[in-house]
Amino acid sequence: MDKIVIKGGQALHGEVQASGAKNAALPILASALLADGTSIYRNVPALADVATMLKVLRTMGCDAERDSETTDVCRVGVNGHITPEAPYDLVKTMRASVLVLGPLVARFGRARVSMPGGCAIGARPIDQHLKGLKALGADIHLTEGYVEATAKQLKGGTVNFDVITVTGTENVMMAAVLAKGRTLMENCAREPEVEELAKVLNKMGARIEGAGTSSITIEGVDGLKPVEHAILPDRIEAGTLLVAAAISGGDVLVKRVVPEHMDALVEKLREAGCTITTEGSGLRCKAPQRLDAVNITTTEHPGFPTDMQAQLMALMSVSQGTSVISENIFENRFMHVPELHRLGADITIQGPTAVVKGVKGLSGAPVMATDLRASASLILAGLRAEGRTDVSRVYHLDRGYERLERKLSALGADIRREKA
Ligand code: EPZ
Repeated sequence: MDKIVIKGGQALHGEVQASGAKNAALPILASALLADGTSIYRNVPALADVATMLKVLRTMGCDAERDSETTDVCRVGVNGHITPEAPYDLVKTMRASVLVLGPLVARFGRARVSMPGGCAIGARPIDQHLKGLKALGADIHLTEGYVEATAKQLKGGTVNFDVITVTGTENVMMAAVLAKGRTLMENCAREPEVEELAKVLNKMGARIEGAGTSSITIEGVDGLKPVEHAILPDRIEAGTLLVAAAISGGDVLVKRVVPEHMDALVEKLREAGCTITTEGSGLRCKAPQRLDAVNITTTEHPGFPTDMQAQLMALMSVSQGTSVISENIFENRFMHVPELHRLGADITIQGPTAVVKGVKGLSGAPVMATDLRASASLILAGLRAEGRTDVSRVYHLDRGYERLERKLSALGADIRREKA
């Protein structure tokens, strides 16, 4: 297993470009199943999770490939026979594989998809996904760890989510576009990635209104056609790069972002003492050597994103004062805390809240990544820590960041990947 080795203390300077959004690419790749023919996607990030989704689609019989290792173009051809199944060994490596469920039932009338099971950050049930599909007339059976869903023809209906769920909203939306009649979805997730998926589906011929708000209306259509689309920038990767500038006391321009997708984060970085300015489609973060502590409460978009919580905790661990961080989305998303302790951070967990007392400095040590955003948090802390920090198990990082160490090295960080 690879590790990332960092020698801390370098202030980052320069320009860097955000890649395409992982959490938009995954549902959009799955949506190719809704049309016959080949869809072409650009600005698709080269991530392990994207490779897994392409593999899930190939397992079903799609031609799903990246044009070449060096391009950001992926094609998904859906022609001929599709086996509407997603096996356990793939779904367990990436729970977002469950996003094929809605398209398969809508297009092929049946799906057999492994239950994703829990993951490091929480139980992450899919009850709301299944509730939505049932409301559209699907028969759902759970057997041997698999969801078996069938429907001769889905019918439009009303779906009231009990919990705001990003992929739940996306799964039900992808099922409803081919249902007969109108579907009304309430208490939907408002993430930009949900809006982006609706944009792609409408380009394919769907009739969706209200995506990006909590109420979505869908008029079912008889069929959809393949699409060409460029994926929107990754607001979480971009946010992580802004925090890299902040924690190192640097001055970095993150290019090709959508600033209005990042308001909650930008507000917190400004409150902490960063100067954030918009430059064209980029955001510049200029930071003093030491920031002020701020409180963070994660909520659904447009609130502060849970996917940035670990990164902000690293920043708060070296800020002036005490920061109270409340994680309201996932029940176990503090696994980076024991590892930050190893670097000298002063953090106390009280249930869903972490109290972070800023320390003057951190000192490098070997640490272990436990999940995707925790690995980013430890790399950020390593940029600040005195001496050497080795972050192991970086396969977690590679799920959601495209060559992060190269991007940081180009900004002046002393960072390298060591093959195991
Ligand atoms: C999406 O996960 C993202 N993944 C996550 O990003 C992100 O952290 C999360 O949304 C929240 O923003 C993708 O988009 C591929 P949820 P998702 O369903 O859809 C509960 C990353 O780091 N819930 O919005 O799986 C659930 O347990 C990843 O890039 C139910 O109870 O998250 C959680 O507490 C991590 N029943 C809350 O809702 C359900 O049926 C939000 O989960 C579904 C969810």
